[in-house]
Amino acid sequence: MKTDRREFLKGTAWMCAAAAYAGCATAGDTKISAPGAMTAYADKPIRKVRVGVVGLGMRGPGAVHRLANIPGVEVAALCDLYRNRVANQQAWLAKNGKAKAREYFVYEAASDGGADETAAYRAMCESDLDLVYIASPWALHAKIALYAMEHGKHVAIEVPAAMTLEECHALVDTSERTQRHCMQLENCCYGDVEMLTLNLVRNGVLGELMHGEGAYIHDLRSLNYLDPAKGGYQGYWRLRWNAAHYGNPYPTHGLVPIMQAMNVNRGDRFDYLSCISTAQVGMDLYANVKFGKDSWQAKLHPKCGDMSTTVIRTVNGKTIMVQHDVTSPRPYSRINLLSGTMGCLNDYPFRIALASQPGEGAHGWLAQDKANEVWNKYRHPLWKAAGELAKKMGGHGGMDFLMDLRLCYCLQNGLPLDMDVYDLAASCSICELSERSALNRGASVDVPDFTRGGWKTAKPLGIVSVDISKMGLQDVKRDDAQLNV
Ligand SMILES: NC(=O)c1ccc[n+]([C@@H]2O[C@H](COP(=O)([O-])OP(=O)(O)OC[C@H]3O[C@@H](n4cnc5c(N)ncnc54)[C@H](O)[C@@H]3O)[C@@H](O)[C@H]2O)c1
Repeated sequence: MKTDRREFLKGTAWMCAAAAYAGCATAGDTKISAPGAMTAYADKPIRKVRVGVVGLGMRGPGAVHRLANIPGVEVAALCDLYRNRVANQQAWLAKNGKAKAREYFVYEAASDGGADETAAYRAMCESDLDLVYIASPWALHAKIALYAMEHGKHVAIEVPAAMTLEECHALVDTSERTQRHCMQLENCCYGDVEMLTLNLVRNGVLGELMHGEGAYIHDLRSLNYLDPAKGGYQGYWRLRWNAAHYGNPYPTHGLVPIMQAMNVNRGDRFDYLSCISTAQVGMDLYANVKFGKDSWQAKLHPKCGDMSTTVIRTVNGKTIMVQHDVTSPRPYSRINLLSGTMGCLNDYPFRIALASQPGEGAHGWLAQDKANEVWNKYRHPLWKAAGELAKKMGGHGGMDFLMDLRLCYCLQNGLPLDMDVYDLAASCSICELSERSALNRGASVDVPDFTRGGWKTAKPLGIVSVDISKMGLQDVKRDDAQLNV
């Protein structure tokens, strides 16, 4: 799994050459970055944000629709491997009265192959855009983002934004050197419960946070094994990643909201972790039952254990447990547990327990009416301001829309983004570090300080919102095409 740093840099050297050709900053311009140089970084306001979306499979179209519906945002470019995926989104833009986007694709038909698959996204990144929004398979996230930043674009990358430590370091270095935003699209940070939690924490209701638990528990077997020709992941990329890797390849949904609440990279930072994984049984069982024991699926024998459990310790002595299970027949859960010196909150279903005063216990969950009182009092201002609109717009119950709304609002108003490249790197480093640990009987591994010491002075994320009255959002239409995967 580990990418050798030299090999990775060799693989990206062409980017610098291309950037130099295009008159952009290159590795030759490298300056020594100040600690946390991109923390609280704000660019000049971009009144009209021109976005290029790359990856128009299951996830990308919803992003096109959400972004196109935000006033002051234009989906100016569409990119995918396949012409029909680009054409479908072009048709959606036309049907909804939006301007025509430039088109970038590699193949006329899904049956084609053998061409340079970097060509379309490279051409798009070289074109006139403010933001490149990446919803491609995991292995391409960092490659596209690096190329886009080298060509002067801000980038927003689906989760996990990077799969290896090399990619994490490269994204940090490049974001600092080019002074481009590099944000991971962690939509779960904008969930109603996650934002409520952050507001409770900022108001001291849970006391000092000591422990958090997050997860991605989602039985994805039917989707992982679904034929790409019938709507499955393009080229079975997710199944193949799970087949080749161990540990936790998808840690960010449960982890990043807890990082925000605990001020990781902003007063605290990850120190070390241990990961232990079960054996893999569930995927083989599924493949045998669904495709027969002689099928290629049954012979694949993915490495990724059914359940992987990682425990991270921070330098301030807090712990976070993160689990990954996309194989077991059990209900969806991100756990969302935060435990502090004054109480505890847990989701699925939402529950809260509070001590009446310091030193007292909290041995039962609050009754429903009391829990509702807490909910109403501490619901996050962003949900109060734009929650109804977000629900109407869809995307995992509205959180996807709130994420895009905040991203575009910050770009339009020249504000720092809610999540920076250090948050991206620390959360994504868990992919490789959990694998290393799990392959070594759970031995602890250190987590790099991607902020270069900047975490000591960085300010925690505040309680942010948007002024929707100034954004002209009243006319947006509901989008039923959003997928909840
Ligand atoms: N945040 C969330 O809740 C959430 C939910 C679903 C998916 N995702 C993420 O979104 C990303 C995409 O997932 P998906 O389910 O849409 O996968 P998908 O396979 O359905 O779509 C990927 C798309 O990328 C295109 N693509 C592949 N190589 C390309 C290239 N070289 N140039 C241009 N386009 C290329 C494919 O043709 C395909 O259309 C993944 O990173 C996934 O983890 C996030």
